[in-house]
Formats: sequence, C-alpha cells, structure tokens
Amino acid sequence: MVSLSKETWGSRVGFVAAAIGSAVGLGNIWMFPMRAGLYGGAAFLIPYLILLFLVGVVALTVEFTLGRAVGGPIEAYGKTLPGGKYLGIFVNAMMLMIFAFYSVVVGWALKYFVTALTGKLLSVDPGSFFGSISFSTEAVVWQFIAIAITIGIVIIGVQKGIERACKIMMPLLFVMIIILAIRSITLPNSYAGLEFYLLPDWSKILSGKTWMIALSQMFFSLSCLGMSNVVYGSYIKKDQDIPLSAIVTAFGDTAVAVTAGFAIFPAVFAFGLKPTAGPGLVFVTLPVVFQKMPGGIIFAAIFFLLILFAAFSSTIAMLETNVQAATTHLNMSRKTATILFGLLAFVVGAPGAINPTYFDWIINISTVYLGPLGALIAALALIKFGVDKAYEELRKGALIEFPAIWQPWVKYVYPIVIIVIYISQFILG
Ligand code: PHE
Repeated sequence: MVSLSKETWGSRVGFVAAAIGSAVGLGNIWMFPMRAGLYGGAAFLIPYLILLFLVGVVALTVEFTLGRAVGGPIEAYGKTLPGGKYLGIFVNAMMLMIFAFYSVVVGWALKYFVTALTGKLLSVDPGSFFGSISFSTEAVVWQFIAIAITIGIVIIGVQKGIERACKIMMPLLFVMIIILAIRSITLPNSYAGLEFYLLPDWSKILSGKTWMIALSQMFFSLSCLGMSNVVYGSYIKKDQDIPLSAIVTAFGDTAVAVTAGFAIFPAVFAFGLKPTAGPGLVFVTLPVVFQKMPGGIIFAAIFFLLILFAAFSSTIAMLETNVQAATTHLNMSRKTATILFGLLAFVVGAPGAINPTYFDWIINISTVYLGPLGALIAALALIKFGVDKAYEELRKGALIEFPAIWQPWVKYVYPIVIIVIYISQFILG
C-alpha cells in the first residue's frame, strides 16, 4: 500500500508507517512465495537477502532523498536528466502495466474473500477452485470490480480513511501470517518444505536469471521503481529521518515476505503440492492450511479482508500516480483522468485475466525488465544532482547516519550491480 495524497508527513512515525505501508502488499504475500517457489526456494532467498543489504536499503535512501531534494519523478528527472520528461512518461507507463496485472490478482482475492464469507471456501477442492476461477471470464469480472473499487475510492477521495485503517490492519496482517507460519511448520511432514526454503541447491544460485528475478522482486516489493517512493520523498520534511525510515522499511517489508514463505512452503510439501505452481501457489496452499485450523473459515475471511486492504492501498497509489501526472501535465480533470486511466488499466490487464501466458508476459515486462530500470533512472538522477549534495540532504533530520561511503556506493556500486545483473540474465541464462 502507498499514500500519495498527503502534502507532507505529520511526524517521523507517520512517515515510517506510510513507507512500510507502501511496501507491504501482494508483492510480499503472493508474488514473493511464487517466485521463491519457481526459482529454487533457498536459492532465491539467499540472493534476495544479499541484494537487500547491497542495494535494497540504498534504493530507499536514493528515492526518498531525490524526492526531498529535487521533487516528484517528473520534476526530478526533468531537472537532472536529458529527455527527463520522456523518462517520466516511461515510469508512468510502467506503473499502468503494474496496475493492470495487479488488479487481476486483487480480483482473485476479492473472489476468495466473498467465498470465505459464504462459508464455502474451505469445503471446495482448493486446486480445482483456483483453476475454475482464475484465467476465466469470471476473473475479468472480478478484475473489473477491483478496478471499479479503486476508481471509486480515488474519486470519492477516501484514501486517507483507508490509510488510517491500514495502520491497524497491517500489523494484524503480519500477526495472521505469523500464526499461519506456525500452523504450517507444525504440520506433519513439513520438514521438506523448510529444507527447500532454507537449504540452497548451490548450482541454482549461479543462475543470472535467479539474481535478476530476486533483484526485480526486491525493487517491486520495496516499491522502489523510480516512481512512488520519489513522490513520497517529496513529502518528507527536513527534520524527518530518511536513513531510519529506509532501514525500518527495508527490514519490515522483508520480514513480511520471508514469513509468508514460512507459511507457504512447509504446507506445500506437507500436502504434496508443487512449489513451482506459479500464480496459484498461495491461493491453493492457504485454503489447505485454513482447513487444518480450528475456526479456519473465520481466519480465512479475516485474512483475505486484510489482504484486500493491503492490496487496495497499493492499487490506489498506482492509479493516483497516473492521475497526478495527467492532471498536472495534460490539463485533465481529476475525475476524467481517474476513470480514463482506470479503464486503460482494465483494457491492458483484462487479457491477462483470461490468458496465463499474457499474464506472465505483462508481469515480466513490467516488474523484471522495466522495474529495475526505473530504480536505475532514479539513481542516475541523484548522481547528476550530485552525491555530495545528496549526502548532505540524507543527513538532515537523521538520528542514524550512513557513513560517507554512501556516496561512492550510490555512484558506483548501486548502478553497477543493477547493470551487471541486468546483463547477466541474458549471458548466463
Ligand atoms: N510494493 C507493493 C507490493 O509489494 C507494490 C507496489 C509497487 C505498490 C509500486 C506501489 C508502487 O505489493
């Protein structure tokens, strides 16, 4: 979830809460286990954690600092980079594609929530249930509802209410995931799942593709795509703490994702499911875990409700991004822009609600190929702005200070890591 509707953050805590909120979403609960499952469990988790230390925390400092020092993405790129305006359009197009596939998954979650409310979710066969509702015309209808709700929230202007609710809902969601992880780990025969998730097959770690997916997953999960976190940064006051917020956000977000893995993989192996199931992994596995819990159906209903809060606060941010750009640069009214870009995302995403190949394609294009480029653009803008000036900006209001090595790190290590991994996927396969 993310908030783009405030002018400045009221307090240090308010900013940290908003930044973590921005990061936590379907990326942690649905996409992280899916990709960990596809790319070898521990062989994915280890690169992910290494990259978190190497570039994740830095990515957040880069985007927040750029935003506070120069302004939102279009201003920041426009002022620092040649063709900056087009880079602004590029990141907006990427955001639209992300909203397009994300809304398909929010649609599935809506369907699960409604089915849990009717009490039927735990009496169906999870595999065939997911099979029957995903990639179907029904999924298009649910995707449309997900988009219509987002448009409604943005037009009525109740984002702030949703954000306030999230301050309670997100910690609750984390507690629920911990409970699910405990249930999953204590299932008979869960050990193979723990082994898969924690003991790497070293041969898989050498794959360039694994590193690329881990890198892009991390950027997506932290919402570091050169877009919404730069907007966020522009709302930070000079006496608020960027380093502390970056550290808390990076580790908080990762804690949720890693715990989601503990909720999924032990159960996957305990029930003889496949970790490589892809988009259906979480949607098939969780109902099986709920079936094994006392009061499981109540848990399921609450869980999917919490997920919907996390998800809608993300979709609001995605749509708001385009709306802000269109109202300020295309002279469109807010209402027209909201409806237009919402419908555009529907049109771009709907084929993905029906066709799994297209669904995979749009996820890969937007998150794997374009996402890290968005993060790179933000870094280049900050380098052009001057890492020494940026370092001064970073230190304003900071309780925790990054050592001065932050400057060469941002200038050399950070872009080089992104570029090397980006290229290695094509060379190493
Ligand atoms: N980080 C969010 C998630 O994990 C997704 C997101 C990306 C939200 C970019 C806003 C902007 O679900």
